[in-house]
Amino acid sequence: MGGPIVLDLSLLELRGITKSFPGVLALDNVDFTLRAGEVHALMGENGAGKSTLIKVLTGVYQRDGGTATLLGRSISPKTPLDAQSLGISTVYQEVNLIPTLSVAENIFLGREPTRLGNIDWRAMKTGAAEALARLDIVLNVNETLSSYSIAIQQMVAIARAVDIKAKVLVLDEPTSSLDKDEVAQLFQVMRKLKSEGLGILFVSHFLDQIYEISDRITVLRNGKLVGEFPTSELSRLQLVSKMIGKDEAAVASMSDHRVSDLSPNLGEPVVSAKQFGKRSKVGPVDLEICKGEVLGLAGLLGSGRTEIAQLLFGIDKPDQGTLKVDGTDTQVNSPRKAIRLGFGFLSEDRKHAGIIPNLSIRENIVLALQANRGWLRKISFSQQQELADRYIKALKIATPDADKPIGQLSGGNQQKVLLARWLASQPKLLILDEPTRGVDVGAKAEIEGLVYQLCADGMAILFISSELDEVLRDSHRVIVMRDRKKVGELSGEHLTSNELMNTIAAGDHLA
Ligand SMILES: Nc1ncnc2c1ncn2[C@@H]1O[C@H](COP(=O)(O)OP(=O)(O)OP(=O)(O)O)[C@@H](O)[C@H]1O
Ligand SMILES: [Mg+2]
Repeated sequence: MGGPIVLDLSLLELRGITKSFPGVLALDNVDFTLRAGEVHALMGENGAGKSTLIKVLTGVYQRDGGTATLLGRSISPKTPLDAQSLGISTVYQEVNLIPTLSVAENIFLGREPTRLGNIDWRAMKTGAAEALARLDIVLNVNETLSSYSIAIQQMVAIARAVDIKAKVLVLDEPTSSLDKDEVAQLFQVMRKLKSEGLGILFVSHFLDQIYEISDRITVLRNGKLVGEFPTSELSRLQLVSKMIGKDEAAVASMSDHRVSDLSPNLGEPVVSAKQFGKRSKVGPVDLEICKGEVLGLAGLLGSGRTEIAQLLFGIDKPDQGTLKVDGTDTQVNSPRKAIRLGFGFLSEDRKHAGIIPNLSIRENIVLALQANRGWLRKISFSQQQELADRYIKALKIATPDADKPIGQLSGGNQQKVLLARWLASQPKLLILDEPTRGVDVGAKAEIEGLVYQLCADGMAILFISSELDEVLRDSHRVIVMRDRKKVGELSGEHLTSNELMNTIAAGDHLA
């Protein structure tokens, strides 16, 4: 034919992969091809099978059928370590390191350098510092991992993965707890690794990120392959339509409510805090949330948003200021008290503060309601079942039934169960800390629609999100935090993305 010689650069080929769990066909005859030097996004709704495909590839699960080849050689990794030695490195959706060990120990976990049969601590520390330097991160590698934020812990996990002589790097939602600068830093690293010929498999629910970093997109739906597309040839509308299996017109008309269009009920405040804070952590802050009002909390990672939420919910104790609940001075000194007062708190850290992995979806959902009623007034099994079924349907939680352990759900579906837990307890104040983290585009829109509905029904909501668009759409007023202090409050015509960004950066809109 005389055309140019086309090199087949495919690094990894998965063909006809199937994997089932009791009651769920998680992967049904899926093909996936990763080329050297590309970032390949794996997209799909919550529960579509992304993490399962990754776990099959990385030896966490064994495939039921299909073939896998790496550089033309057939592979069947039995464990993650096995996959790693083949050159397939992974950073999972939830950070999987050991918080009580040092940064250096975590980076070398399971492959500690030795000298004369003993761990070579010096080599380990130098090696760890070098691995981090490759990501432009400077940390004290002797510190315990838990002394750093989740974001930094995630970067350590990535440093650990890329340090090994990897051919394939798998990143399953690595950016969900990183702020904008950290994402930029990660992308820089990804581009560098890509130019070195690594193939990178990337999962994220942030479409902006997908379009910024990926070369190619594979879409899964309900465990089946929908197709593979060059990113530049697939519009966002087309992508979402393929993910959710609705035509583009239906996607374009997906709910677009703005809480800020609802006029807040200017009745009595549900909570009202004055000079409220904890000296070593955050504040002092003045804040007030009325019935039917959504108060947004914006600011960069580490700016003190979550700390405020934790003080309000009694997870941490304030040492200054006052808090009134329904007009009465109140001390919320434990989460139990908070729940009794009618507060709900969807935590950003679902692994540690949220799910109880071995309990069923049903049990996880009724937990807050039961605590609210007191353990003596048991919710009957049939009531539990009824509640669980209602929320599984309302929030479209992908599961065959309510009795499945929550730990077996996909990440985004776990998040939905936690939301259901608080909704079921019908709180008068609902604190939502990054409620849409890890949920797919469709579910994001649904959660936003829900916030709109709850607020229209008179709930008071504290809404924390790193996505400024979301905060703008879903709040009546926004408090901006920086360096653990309130630096501004925006409402009405001032609630624009420009003013919000300026306040976050400069903080000159003191309330
Ligand atoms: N260990 C397991 N046991 C039983 N079912 C499982 C297990 N792991 C996954 N599943 C099921 O397989 C399906 C696919 O889940 P998977 O975690 O791959 O989804 P995902 O695409 O990664 O979703 P998300 O975007 O929410 O992370 C889901 O229905 C899930 O409940
Ligand atoms: Mg997943």
